[in-house]
Amino acid sequence: MPESRCLQGIWSSPWIFIFAAAGSAIGLGNIWKFPYMLGSNGGGAFLLIYCLCLVGVGLPMLMAEVALGRTVRSNPVDTVNDLAERKVVPKYWVAVPYLAGITGILILTFYSVIAGWAFAYAQRSVTGVLEGLDKIESEVLFQTFLSSPVEMIFWHTLFMALVILTVGQAVTRGLSSVVRILLPALITMLVLLSVYALATGESGAALGFITQLRWEDVTFEVALSAIGHALFSLGVGLGAMFSYGAYMSKRMSIAKACTIVVGLDLLVSVLAALIIFPLTFQFGVAVDSGPSLPFVSLPIIFGLLPGGQVFGLVFFVLLAVAALTSAISMMELFVSWMHERFYIGRLKAAFILGSAIWFIGIAIVLSFSHWNAKILFGLNTFELLDNLTSLILLPIAAIALSILVAWVVPEPILKNEMIAKNVNHFRWWYTTLKYVSIPAAILITLAGWIGV
Ligand code: PFF
Repeated sequence: MPESRCLQGIWSSPWIFIFAAAGSAIGLGNIWKFPYMLGSNGGGAFLLIYCLCLVGVGLPMLMAEVALGRTVRSNPVDTVNDLAERKVVPKYWVAVPYLAGITGILILTFYSVIAGWAFAYAQRSVTGVLEGLDKIESEVLFQTFLSSPVEMIFWHTLFMALVILTVGQAVTRGLSSVVRILLPALITMLVLLSVYALATGESGAALGFITQLRWEDVTFEVALSAIGHALFSLGVGLGAMFSYGAYMSKRMSIAKACTIVVGLDLLVSVLAALIIFPLTFQFGVAVDSGPSLPFVSLPIIFGLLPGGQVFGLVFFVLLAVAALTSAISMMELFVSWMHERFYIGRLKAAFILGSAIWFIGIAIVLSFSHWNAKILFGLNTFELLDNLTSLILLPIAAIALSILVAWVVPEPILKNEMIAKNVNHFRWWYTTLKYVSIPAAILITLAGWIGV
């Protein structure tokens, strides 16, 4: 399909695709979720399996999404519909992009609440509340915050309003200006903080924990968490990268662009762990304390640092913006679909979807405070949605999208797309996806569910 038929524009330069895709990949998953998952899943074992999942499963699946998106240059729902109408793929495959879109929407319901925490902590940094904070005070600060749903709803509302306004613009316009500044600033900040944490905290214990492999920790449940998080962290399986591929110039190598995105994503996760764990060990914060871990550890570092008020403010604002560039890609699938299929303005489509997400987010806020009831399987609303999306829906959507690309869409269509620069890249990718990534993802997911 010629580039001029792309409805909502083309990235203005190849690097903007990389920035936008990295902007979608890098977010709360790297800085908030990765460290606490590492802490709760045995450190080194999780890191090793996570890296294998990123490279062996995540990267080929990411390339699959981008390649199909660029081939068809439309949103995932219409693409699969179109392929089905032309009898290229059976009709029932149309269910897959809907599943992907719904999973993204469900993730955004809690993602927005946690992004709101970043805003709240940015405000606390400015007011000097974090100064000289010790572990107990930091925990009390966090608990007090969790027990104020009105404040949490305020920040959640602000975040969703920003998401709606940004995604309401053509994504090639709204995003590119933000990510060009955000990513370099965020990575610089993380490098500075990790150097400080390693120099002043318990770096030996932290590095030991992150790198030491205890075989008894290597279980299928850990592997399922690792694969689920690799997909979450790359933003694979939700059709977001598909949409970004649709805006990608034909001149760019998909293999190269996606490898850079995976590398940046891993770098940010590792830097976050190198900031949090030296402090965790120094101040005796439990490594397996779960979602609160980063929000208890990070304020301590800003309370210690000379100029911590400014550092804290900049860091938490950058974190919120990183969350924003991820959040818009979760809504992109349905917004672009509503726009292209029903000619609803992007802003209006974003508002309709965003309002529904905002509403469900209220239940998540309450699950952290007054309504911590275990509604199913001993889990509260947040835990239920987090597990449902990361461990069940996301792997299913990613595996299904990859099967569609690798086994259902005829090879020549993709070959045409990938081959522009290097035949070997295509062979390597196609074979890995078919015979390594998809079987490994299916095996780990099933074994993790059964609890082998
Ligand atoms: N990759 C994002 C993060 O790590 O925070 C989360 C995410 C973005 C998931 C986009 C899914 C998605 F489509």
